[in-house]
Amino acid sequence: MSATVYLETIGCQMNVADSERADVRLRAAGFDFSESPATADVVIFNTCSVRERAAHKVFTRIGEVRRQRLGNEPVVGVMGCVAQLEGSTIFDASPSVNLVAGTRATDRLPQLISRALNGERRVIDLDERAEGEMWDVPATARTSKYVAFVPIIEGCNKFCTYCIVPFSRGREKSRLASDIIAEANELRHHGYREIHLIGQNVNSYRPRTEAGLEGFKGATPFCRLLRAVAATGMERIKFTTSFPRDFHPDIVTAIEEHENLCEWIHLPVQSGSDRVLRAMRRGHTTADYLKRIETVRKARRRMSITSDIIVGFPGETTQDFRETVTLVEQVGYDGLYLFKYSERRGTPAAKLPDDVSREEKSARFIELETAQRRLQEKIYDSYVGRTLHVLAERMSSKSESDLTGHSTCHKVVNFPGNQSWLGQVVQVRISAAKQNSLYGEVMS
Ligand code: SAH
Ligand code: SF4
Ligand code: F3S
Repeated sequence: MSATVYLETIGCQMNVADSERADVRLRAAGFDFSESPATADVVIFNTCSVRERAAHKVFTRIGEVRRQRLGNEPVVGVMGCVAQLEGSTIFDASPSVNLVAGTRATDRLPQLISRALNGERRVIDLDERAEGEMWDVPATARTSKYVAFVPIIEGCNKFCTYCIVPFSRGREKSRLASDIIAEANELRHHGYREIHLIGQNVNSYRPRTEAGLEGFKGATPFCRLLRAVAATGMERIKFTTSFPRDFHPDIVTAIEEHENLCEWIHLPVQSGSDRVLRAMRRGHTTADYLKRIETVRKARRRMSITSDIIVGFPGETTQDFRETVTLVEQVGYDGLYLFKYSERRGTPAAKLPDDVSREEKSARFIELETAQRRLQEKIYDSYVGRTLHVLAERMSSKSESDLTGHSTCHKVVNFPGNQSWLGQVVQVRISAAKQNSLYGEVMS
C-alpha cells in the first residue's frame, strides 16, 4: 500500500496526541504522508465538537477540499469527537465522506482506510479501544522534537451540564503509571526536554493498579504519578487540565519538592457565580475554588495560574456576570481562555433556554477580555528584569533572527538567537512585556 495521507487536526491536545498516534500506526502500515490535501489519496480531519463553531469547521474544510479536488476526489475521513457524536449521519450530511472513525478507533485506522481505498463507500467504526491497544507513540513521530504530549487519562466522568466531552470521549480511563514512566524515559533518551501530561482532568487520574507508583508518596494517585514522573529526570514537566474539585494541595507540595515540575497550573473555574456553578454542576463553589488558589499562592515558587471561563450560560444574569469579573480580578490570572456559551445537543444544559442574547454574550466577552488584558499587563510587566528558563522551540514566525519558546511558567518568550540553540534551555533576561508574550536577551 503506498497511498498518501493528509491528516489535519482541529481541537484540543487530546486530538493532537491522537493524530500523532494515527501517524505512527499509518506509517507502520506503509502509508506515506502528504503536507497538502491537494495531492493526498486520503484526507482525514481529526475533529472537535466542544463548541458549535469548532464542530462546523470540519464541514467547511471538507467543502474546500472538495472544490479543490473536483474530478479527482480523495477518500475523505472524519475522525475524533464529531465522528464519535454524529456517527453515520455524517455520510448523509456530507456525501463525499467515506470514512467515520470515532475517538477510540485511532489504532484501527490503517485497516479502516484500506477498506475505503478498496471502494467501500461507508466505513464506520465507533467502537471502544480494544484490550491491549497501546497509547504509546514512539518518540520519533512527534509533532515537536523537544516537547511531547503524554496522555495519562482519557474521557470524562464529570458531566458538567454544558459539555459534550463525556459523550464524545466516553468514561475516564487512566493509563498505567509504568507505561507513562516508560514513555517519559524513552522521550528523555530521544532528547526531549519537556513533556505535558495531558487529559481532560489529569488530577482525576486513577489507574487500575499502582504499577509503577510503588515507593512514591502522595495523597492521590496523581500526586504519586507526579513524583514518579519527576524521578525520571525529564527536564521540564507540565500537566493540564486540572479539575478544581479534585485539586489536592499535595499537588502544590509535589511541585515544591521537584524543580522539574513546572510552576504552571491550568485550573478552569468557568464562572464566578455560585448559582451558575451549581447550574453547570461543576461540583464546587467559588469559595472552594479560591481556597485552592490560596494554596497555590502560598507556594515558595511563584506559580502561573490560567483558567477557562464561559460567558452567557443559560440564566446567567448581569449580577452573575459581575461576580465572574470580581473573581477574575481577585485571582489575577496569568492567562484566560474565554468562551461564549454554545449549546450542545444532548447535554443537560441544552434543555434550558439559551436566553442570554448573542449581543449580550459578546458584550460580556469583551468586558471580561478587557478586564483580563488590564490585569495581565501588570503581571507580564512584573517579569521585566527577571530571568526565565526558556526552551528554544522554534524560529519565530515574526522575525527571522528571533527564536521562540516557553518558560517554565508557560509564558511565550521571544529572543534573538540562532538555529543552533533550538532544543536547548536558555536563560533569558526579560526586557519587555507584550500583550501575550515576553521579550528578552539570552544571558551569556
Ligand atoms: N476538562 C476541562 C475542559 C475541557 S473543554 C475542564 O473541565 O476544565 C475546554 C473548555 O471549553 C472548557 O473549560 C469550557 O470553558 C469550554 N467549553 C466546554 N463546553 C462548552 C460549551 N458548550 N460552550 C462554551 N464553552 C464550552
Ligand atoms: Fe467537560 Fe466538565 Fe468534563 Fe471538563 S470536566 S471535559 S468541562 S464535563
Ligand atoms: Fe474538542 Fe474533543 Fe478535545 S470536543 S476539546 S477535541 S475532547
